[in-house]
Amino acid sequence: MTVDGDVAVATADDMRELGRRLARALRPGDLVVLTGALGAGKTTLVQGIGAGLGVDEPILSPTFVISRVHRGGRVPLVHVDAYRLGTAVEVDDLDLEASLEDSVTVVEWGAGLVEQLSPERLEVHIERSGREEDDLRRVRLVGVGPRWTGETSLP
Ligand SMILES: Nc1ncnc2c1ncn2[C@@H]1O[C@H](COP(=O)(O)OP(=O)(O)OP(=O)(O)O)[C@@H](O)[C@H]1O
Ligand SMILES: [Mg+2]
Repeated sequence: MTVDGDVAVATADDMRELGRRLARALRPGDLVVLTGALGAGKTTLVQGIGAGLGVDEPILSPTFVISRVHRGGRVPLVHVDAYRLGTAVEVDDLDLEASLEDSVTVVEWGAGLVEQLSPERLEVHIERSGREEDDLRRVRLVGVGPRWTGETSLP
């Protein structure tokens, strides 16, 4: 895992491939916080993570449901979209703590809202590199806490 690393991601398929590679490093208890503007590619990355974990159902944007659990893979995948949540108290209501330990929890729009869940997290920052219509994305991985130190290359 390239923690504190930068990856150039040219296409949506490449983003899914990055998710698949990332999934190999993920284990129960992990919290992954995705940051990036509307349409940056957060859900696309989660689709790859799901594929990598062996989830065989489609992973859609959970915006209206807020949180979905995908079972059937190596580890349950809890996919959360916090876009409509304004406060950490509303995040509390999702009771993500209950599933955190046994699952991989991936939260879109989670920055500033879910850090209370765990002292350790992997932040994934996705930015459009160029113009609005450009497919190129820059992905930056930032590990927080001892869980994410000491690993230096994406598997
Ligand atoms: N390099 C790329 N990486 C990821 N997605 C890309 C890329 N190039 C084009 N796309 C397209 O951009 C869109 C990204 O949508 P996606 O739903 O993943 O974004 P999001 O960050 O989850 O948005 P939202 O904030 O609305 O949840 C998809 O239609 C995808 O096919
Ligand atoms: Mg999304």
